[in-house]
Amino acid sequence: MTQPTAPDIFAADQRSRWLSDHPGIWSRQGADLDAIPTLSILTTLWDQPRWLEAYHLYDELGSELFEAICDLPEYYLTRTENSILEANAKNIIAAAPVECIVELGAGYSKKTVHLLSEQVRQRGLCIFAPIDVSVAGLLASKASVQKDFPQLEFHGIHARYEDGFSAIEKSLPTLFVFLGSTIGNFNQTEFPRFFRALSAAMGPNDYLLLGADRVKPVKLLEDAYNDSRGITAEFILNVFRNINRLLGGNFDLNQIGYHSWFNPHWQQIEMYAVASTAQEIYFRDANAGFQWRHDEKILVEISRKFEPNRLQEQLGFFGLTPVEHFTDPNEWFSVLLFRKQN
Ligand SMILES: C[S@@+](CC[C@H](N)C(=O)[O-])C[C@H]1O[C@@H](n2cnc3c(N)ncnc32)[C@H](O)[C@@H]1O
Repeated sequence: MTQPTAPDIFAADQRSRWLSDHPGIWSRQGADLDAIPTLSILTTLWDQPRWLEAYHLYDELGSELFEAICDLPEYYLTRTENSILEANAKNIIAAAPVECIVELGAGYSKKTVHLLSEQVRQRGLCIFAPIDVSVAGLLASKASVQKDFPQLEFHGIHARYEDGFSAIEKSLPTLFVFLGSTIGNFNQTEFPRFFRALSAAMGPNDYLLLGADRVKPVKLLEDAYNDSRGITAEFILNVFRNINRLLGGNFDLNQIGYHSWFNPHWQQIEMYAVASTAQEIYFRDANAGFQWRHDEKILVEISRKFEPNRLQEQLGFFGLTPVEHFTDPNEWFSVLLFRKQN
């Protein structure tokens, strides 16, 4: 079967590098999305304290579990952000005159429909390009978006954020959308690296819409990450299933507990896996292992909480000018619009 030519949302010098592995979904030629996780897992698990990068959580089951978390009564984030987008999509789209919407870490793109329907209403045509490491998420997004918006051009990008957004044509006026407070998963090293790269990839007519969860009473925060049905724990511990698959590992999920708390000093929820017994962890495919001590914790995910004014100032240092700030009546969540400085 002949390969379709990559669409012109990709920069001209990038087009030949992108291949379609499922209709409407593009992957970079030769990019082995499993190779880098392997290296990342080995290096961060050898750190002290041991930790993991958040994207290992999103295998097929992980993506499904995350969707289940979004529906939990304790997890106020999704419904609050959704209500802000629903109420303000008209103003957001009016303030960002673009032809293309690129969503980073799109998942199933459920909240993005508010923006897409306004974009179609105000401008007629639109290109929608979700970027995600989870092909399951991209396929779900494609099915629902194409059904609801047949007039829309859909290009799913199966890649890590930076590989995806760096390939987008800079002259195409684009709104980059990064929802779900996913920026809260970046640590102090990853955060500036991400925004430096994103800002460099943005063209002169581009915008960024960022969803950020705010600092609030500890009880509300801690309940959101320790739900009564145990789905968050299942989501966090599923990472070890994924690691076993990627590296031929022997993590025993029955011997691992879940612990989360709000660290006020760092203003972040920390989600840990705790060894309930001492364990000899061995990765057959890497011929490497370590002794996981009884009660020793692995930091699987963080969710940093933000103060919107400070976040706006910070992004200003990366050449992103605040345009508007949208929030909910409780001021629990912020959706911030930025324009790339020329
Ligand atoms: C917290 S979920 C948010 C999903 C959706 N945007 C929402 O707001 O509900 C994070 C999403 O980002 C994706 N993701 C995580 N790390 C990624 C990376 N480095 N590159 C691309 N996608 C990533 C995951 O697969 C997942 O779909």
